[in-house]
Amino acid sequence: MNILVLHGVNLNMFGRRDPAQYGTATLADIDAALAALAAELGVGLSTFQTNHEGEMVERIHQALDDGTAGVVINAGAWTHTSHAIADALAILTAPVVEVHMSNVHAREPFRHESVLARVSAGSIAGFGVMSYLLGLRAAVALARR
Ligand code: DQA
Repeated sequence: MNILVLHGVNLNMFGRRDPAQYGTATLADIDAALAALAAELGVGLSTFQTNHEGEMVERIHQALDDGTAGVVINAGAWTHTSHAIADALAILTAPVVEVHMSNVHAREPFRHESVLARVSAGSIAGFGVMSYLLGLRAAVALARR
């Protein structure tokens, strides 16, 4: 079983970006922690980051045919704006879990709305790197169901 983890816009800057909100782990640190947990859970893992919305949409389309059984996505600011990414995710039959490092509900009002919520099984926010790890556990559990 393969799980796809998608990182959206600006998330390549983790470790150098607003450490009060996002901590000091880099994207490579996050991907390494995810790879370790995937091995423990006995699942395959692919990760992808882009700052280009169309590239993200195209990577989601690929997931339809590449054996992806579950998706974990931190879409960054696209979470609050991108109906294009939500529509792409809606094409998939694999379950989608939305994650955020920061507690978006305790931040500015524009972060309280997720346009991805309509296509997500659920969301996990506010636990830093652990949000991703919990998201991976949720995606695996949903895919195994
Ligand atoms: C984020 C929260 C978003 O509101 C923000 O635009 C990000 C990161 C998070 O992981 O907490 O880029 O998705």
